[in-house]
Amino acid sequence: MHSHEIRQRYLDFFAARGHAVIPSASLVPENDPTVLFTTAGMQPLVPFLLGQPHPEGRRLTSVQKCVRTVDIEEVGDNRHLTFFEMLGNWSLGDYFKHDAIKWSFEFLTSREHGLGLDPHRLYVTVFGGDANAAKDEESIGIWKEVFAGVGIDAGVDVPLSEGGKIFSLTENWWGPAGQTGPCGPDTEIHYDVGQESLALTLQDGMPDFESGRIMEIWNNVFMQYNKTSEGGFEPLEQSNVDTGMGLERMALIMQGKSLPFETDLFTSIVSYLTGVAPETVGSNHEQMRIVADHLRTSVMMVADGVLPSNKDRGYILRRLIRRATLHLGLSGTEWVSGLVTAVAETYQDQYPIITQLHSEITKSLSEEVAKFQRTVEKGKQEIAKRGTLTGKDAFDLYQSYGFPLELTKEYAASKGVTFDQEEFETEFKKHQDLSRTASAGQFSSGLADHSEATVAYHTATHLLHQALRNILGPEVQQRGSNITPERLRFDFSWPEKMTEEQVRAVETEVNAQIAAALPVTVATMHPDAAKDEGAIGLFGHKYGDSVTVYSIGTYSKEICTGPHVATTANLGTFKIAKEEAVSAGVRRIKAVLTH
Ligand code: SER
Repeated sequence: MHSHEIRQRYLDFFAARGHAVIPSASLVPENDPTVLFTTAGMQPLVPFLLGQPHPEGRRLTSVQKCVRTVDIEEVGDNRHLTFFEMLGNWSLGDYFKHDAIKWSFEFLTSREHGLGLDPHRLYVTVFGGDANAAKDEESIGIWKEVFAGVGIDAGVDVPLSEGGKIFSLTENWWGPAGQTGPCGPDTEIHYDVGQESLALTLQDGMPDFESGRIMEIWNNVFMQYNKTSEGGFEPLEQSNVDTGMGLERMALIMQGKSLPFETDLFTSIVSYLTGVAPETVGSNHEQMRIVADHLRTSVMMVADGVLPSNKDRGYILRRLIRRATLHLGLSGTEWVSGLVTAVAETYQDQYPIITQLHSEITKSLSEEVAKFQRTVEKGKQEIAKRGTLTGKDAFDLYQSYGFPLELTKEYAASKGVTFDQEEFETEFKKHQDLSRTASAGQFSSGLADHSEATVAYHTATHLLHQALRNILGPEVQQRGSNITPERLRFDFSWPEKMTEEQVRAVETEVNAQIAAALPVTVATMHPDAAKDEGAIGLFGHKYGDSVTVYSIGTYSKEICTGPHVATTANLGTFKIAKEEAVSAGVRRIKAVLTH
């Protein structure tokens, strides 16, 4: 089934069920300063999900262009792309879980009106419940019903060998897209794409949702909450449905391919690129995928008015173009025009704007490519001049330009420049650890120093973290921490200056925990268990098989390597000395303990 037919069947199916077909909005969000790009079909609909009446009614459907760059390092696998189209349907306070799930199932499995997928290969996940909202038993019941309708007795939270079909997970929560806005529990639909080389189950027989074999194809979000800038979740006036299905993934399935680059959405682009760059893109699949993905996205961005620059959207575009240019390895910019043609042809019906703006898009891209080629030339001359290349130099090239290590190595070798790969890898690892801990909210916080004062500040940091979450809201996340024997410094996500009252309330709460002389205990467990117990830590992230969890009484529980004091009894008096901004959306507290 051609991708065009998938889009059309989707829109027709929902139009036949009372949905108005609305056009794709721009990739540049119009009214949402909290995000750089439109990342989901719901984004342009935020005001309507919040209760403003939509001129087209309460049932909408669309095909929305989206850009997501968080998974850029995964591009090349069977499901991650920086640009994709999302097929979606919405209920603005109209139908809810029952119709949404029933229709999703019908569209996926009906041969006549939908895609005719085999229901035996579908697996679904539902929200398992957490501190903010209860487990979604209602969706479990509805799923059991629809599976029963085709004679499948759907097992809940049991291994596949025992008929497992429905799985409850705490991460089944979607949104908000930015820092605030509509969000809620979701149910995600997955399809076994049947690629034998990818794992179907984990060791315990439960489905492996990470391997790519059981691919997420559609998300149904039940938007019942609004996340406020104060961090609370307030119930929305209306219960909405927001769904999103990835077109590229569906094309892969419907066309029996194992990679999105093999579908009709990439045919022209890939064939053009492999033709103009047979040495690189034509002979190396990995390179082909990165280049095809990044250039398609770049064309889409420029078509929507983004220009390369050093800031925000423009910077992301610049990085995509640079990375693609490097991998493509062509000199000159003659190839750019043909690339734009290939993208324009692919999207002739869907986005005719690319054809209309062909020369403008070609001009912007060509200028950026040429500029980058000059920079790389200079870099190469620099390498040649130096005669040696330290691992750190190579890492800087990688870091600033996305200059791939392979290329550096090759180039250095061709010039007889020695290159220390071990040092590069050390730098690389340092950087990875740093960004991993940074995004995991787990800074090592000067733990080399285990002096009494430092350890006390470390425990005080956990108390502060919890107090901030209690007083400001659970969306407070650690962004960094630095401890000396004289003070603690703690960075956290928060959009605005804390009020004097909030600062005092945090101090009072921390001092109350100190006065309560709470015991500090440590346990080692699997990260899933830590999560179930409500420990703070970023669970989207890879921890090992076991983590240490520090608990302070029942007040705080946090994944951490320690060490900590044995009791809060002797910490002294906690005082916030300073509360200031570090960057947009991030605040910094400096605090001291006095006796
Ligand atoms: N907003 C949800 C998502 O992006 C469903 O459309 O997955």
